[in-house]
Amino acid sequence: MSATLCRTRFSRHILRVVQTRRCYSTPATVSLLGQQYPKDKVSNVTSAIADKVGRNLYMNPSHPLGILQTLISSHYHDFNSMTGLSPIVTPAKNFDDLGFPADHPGRAATDSYYINRDLMLRTHTSAHEVEVFARRERQWLLSADVYRRDEIDASHYPVFHQMEGARVFPMDASGRAELEADNARLSHHLARANIVIEDVPHITPANPAQAAHDPVLAELVARNLKLSLNSLMLTLFAGRAGADAAEPLRVRWIEAYFPFTTPSYEVEVFFRGKWLEILGCGVVQQLTLDRAQVPNSISWAFGLGLERIAMILFSIPDIRLFWSQDPRFLSQFTAGQISTFKPYSKYPACYKDVSFWLPDTGLHDNDFCDLVRDLAGDLVQDVVLIDSFTHPKTNRSSKCYRVNYCSMDRSLSNEEANTIHEQVISTLKDKFGVEIR
Ligand code: PHE
Repeated sequence: MSATLCRTRFSRHILRVVQTRRCYSTPATVSLLGQQYPKDKVSNVTSAIADKVGRNLYMNPSHPLGILQTLISSHYHDFNSMTGLSPIVTPAKNFDDLGFPADHPGRAATDSYYINRDLMLRTHTSAHEVEVFARRERQWLLSADVYRRDEIDASHYPVFHQMEGARVFPMDASGRAELEADNARLSHHLARANIVIEDVPHITPANPAQAAHDPVLAELVARNLKLSLNSLMLTLFAGRAGADAAEPLRVRWIEAYFPFTTPSYEVEVFFRGKWLEILGCGVVQQLTLDRAQVPNSISWAFGLGLERIAMILFSIPDIRLFWSQDPRFLSQFTAGQISTFKPYSKYPACYKDVSFWLPDTGLHDNDFCDLVRDLAGDLVQDVVLIDSFTHPKTNRSSKCYRVNYCSMDRSLSNEEANTIHEQVISTLKDKFGVEIR
């Protein structure tokens, strides 16, 4: 889970008009996919988020996310694609069933979107592992929208897309034979490719195999996972524009930790001069397969974020563009082709600051970001915390955020930015009880 976080006075008349258009009084229900869900104290799904549920950008074969999704699906052409999985899940499904500890930070309402105490928007595609394994699928792929509260900048958006893939083997001699054959096939393919792999041992004391697993089988599964994903990295990155065709593709394996896999790894790829984090993966915890009632089996799984990879492959500079309906964006892409995006224009940025004393209960950066996103929609380009201090005598804390309002497809007038910013300020006062400085 990405954990990084960093950050006037105008016409009363315009303000009143805007306020009647969208006010912050909280309705008792939230509407998602045509259904009403009762809200309670923990509800934090804003209308900006609710509007995105069901858009399914990755299903459009001519959208960059759809093109990438199709490319990965065709690499894993003999895997079954899972569909019909709702983004609305229980916290048990998203966290508990996968062994997340009770105090895991991802569970906090500051990090995840809760519809109410009992339901949330999935934060990752792994939320569906148990139900898909229960379908007795032996090799499967799943693409979906996922939701996380986060900062606002060019590479973070509270809705993004992931693909999850898994392969299950029988935990016996037949599984061992299948793994040995597949590992030989993949090694042969990779030996002929222009690729340099920086590996880590499959299993170490810090990244152990599971007690339930025969060590030889566990090694074979980890090796199969690595070979399979190295081959996917070739499909995605080898010979792409901007990469020197003579240079080998560099892939780096790193030990990692996920509550639902062990051993676990992260994969990075060196592309256009930088190491890029591509995915997380590992050998599935036996608890997951037990919950799914799949006996005598061992499995690997991986999960990757589509936006991050698509931004690199298509040279898309701002994550908001994926949601653009502007033909100048959409018409640039063709199904089945990775092409370089040509920016059509850069509109001027409009920076507005707001400084305030925090209420006693505090105010999380993500609460501020969601408030801005809800009022400004995709007109907000980034939010930066530019100052934060605690008064030594009164012990009161103050923050100053700089909001950059900038449209992706038109020139935003200063008046319009002011009107939105004024609304941000009044909502801050009404909803969070801050004192503007
Ligand atoms: N669900 C993990 C994430 O969102 C990725 C992952 C998937 C890791 C499957 C291991 C296995 O970061």
